[in-house]
Amino acid sequence: PALIWMTDAEGATTFANRRFRGFFGIKTERQLVTGWRDAFYPEDLPLLDTAFARALEARQRFEHVARVQHPTHGLRWLRMEGAPRFDAAGYFQGYIGASIDVTEAKKAEDDLKRINELLEERVGDALAEKAKAEADLMHAQRMEAVGRLTGGVAHDFNNLLTVVIGALDIILRSEDPAKRKKLGEAALSAARRGERLTHQLLAFSRRQALRPEAMDVNGLIREGEPLLRRAVGEAVEFKLKLRRGGARVSVDPAQFEAALLNLVVNARDAVGETGRITVQTQQVSVAPGEVVDLPAGDYVCVSVSDDGQGMTPEVMRQVFEPFFTTKSIGKGTGLGLSQVYGFARQSGGGVRIVSAPGKGADIRLYLPPLGPEAPRERVVACPIAPVGAGQTVLLVEDDAGVAAIAVDILEGLGMRVVTAETGSQALERLKRGAFDLMLTDIVMPGGMTGVELARRAAKSHPQMRVALTSGYVGEDVDEALADAPWPFLRKPYSADDLRRLLSTSPDMPA
Ligand SMILES: Nc1ncnc2c1ncn2[C@@H]1O[C@H](COP(=O)(O)OP(=O)(O)OP(=O)(O)O)[C@@H](O)[C@H]1O
Ligand SMILES: [Mg+2]
Repeated sequence: PALIWMTDAEGATTFANRRFRGFFGIKTERQLVTGWRDAFYPEDLPLLDTAFARALEARQRFEHVARVQHPTHGLRWLRMEGAPRFDAAGYFQGYIGASIDVTEAKKAEDDLKRINELLEERVGDALAEKAKAEADLMHAQRMEAVGRLTGGVAHDFNNLLTVVIGALDIILRSEDPAKRKKLGEAALSAARRGERLTHQLLAFSRRQALRPEAMDVNGLIREGEPLLRRAVGEAVEFKLKLRRGGARVSVDPAQFEAALLNLVVNARDAVGETGRITVQTQQVSVAPGEVVDLPAGDYVCVSVSDDGQGMTPEVMRQVFEPFFTTKSIGKGTGLGLSQVYGFARQSGGGVRIVSAPGKGADIRLYLPPLGPEAPRERVVACPIAPVGAGQTVLLVEDDAGVAAIAVDILEGLGMRVVTAETGSQALERLKRGAFDLMLTDIVMPGGMTGVELARRAAKSHPQMRVALTSGYVGEDVDEALADAPWPFLRKPYSADDLRRLLSTSPDMPA
């Protein structure tokens, strides 16, 4: 039942039905004009007045909702609607309107709004809870990996330290030279194994000092072929399918070879006695999301596929974790694929595995291709006088212990030694004075490698001899240093080694 009302052309109430009068408690005609206003919430009146005045002026429909404080029913929401009246001649006569109590509807609407808000809040809470659970899970998984890592490293290191300590112990007590030699070699090889282990760990944590070089991986694969063939054995069919036109990328060759060897050895283990292993290089275009964490684009893809036992999805999820292995103790450490992964990521690429139980495995290594060849900085070594007694050496070495020994050796050769701990410190020293020789470590803190330092120093001081040194041993370093024109001295070096190096003429660049 509506409250019906009418106004004159000025907007003053001229008529109201019985419900209207009852609702607002209007007793007299005089009260009718403004008496109903007292029932409205005072703060709602200005809005109501403006809305009505605007409609009145434009002779348009009027619509408004406002609150009323009813003496018996309490707070009520009134929805008012009015239509302009015109006489036969088209003159505006005022409004005829109806007001409806919409409190119930309003309440329902408010309830709905509150429910919605509550729901949003709940959903928000649930999402936050889910995010936290996921973070917890990730943390737990990381802790599990770290646990496996620590356990694995401790295990392996304990083994090799047992060999080293045992051997050294016997060497110290034994007089037999043959025995001492044999044990010394055993200790050395165990220590080397420890070194390889730390290299792999470093590669996984991406802390390895990579020496990326522009190169064709096809060439690297071909070079490594004899070694790979030997690793897979006679009974396994080993094939190379290398992309015609080359596969140029910028990678650390030693790390690439290690990754390839890891993949091939895994494939060999998977195929067992007989099977087929294929190493393939391709130029591929990766779609967004196709390879985890890898931006879409063109890549050089190096894949190692086999027709071995394959992997379950469960295994596939964990293979990149360090020390995850399904192989028995002594057969695998679980570091192979973590090295592959660390190397790929650090080289700006990614890894993808396609495999199913009994269906073999295809491990794909994606590496960013090299753009057009950048003009290489040529470093020209000038003919330089031999270095010897009375001359000055700039020794760049960050390890104080190693530096002390080197200073000893160099001073023993009659040289004057100035030391620097980083590349930038060395450049500072070079600004202040010239040296006959700079002997620099390759891997140093501070961002500048010894090779870079050598390059800069050779430019500003073409008369100075430069020699590089590093504690990293093996073919890796030889490979990495292939295009550095300076002689290289492996650490630890003896006075003889140094003398020999300095007495030969400096290598000329190709
Ligand atoms: N080609 C493959 N076919 C089937 N399973 C594989 C293959 N490559 C890796 N895997 C699985 O992934 C696991 C982890 O491989 P990863 O190379 O990291 O460690 P590993 O081979 O066990 O030990 P390591 O390489 O340190 O000697 C393996 O134990 C194996 O279960
Ligand atoms: Mg392996």
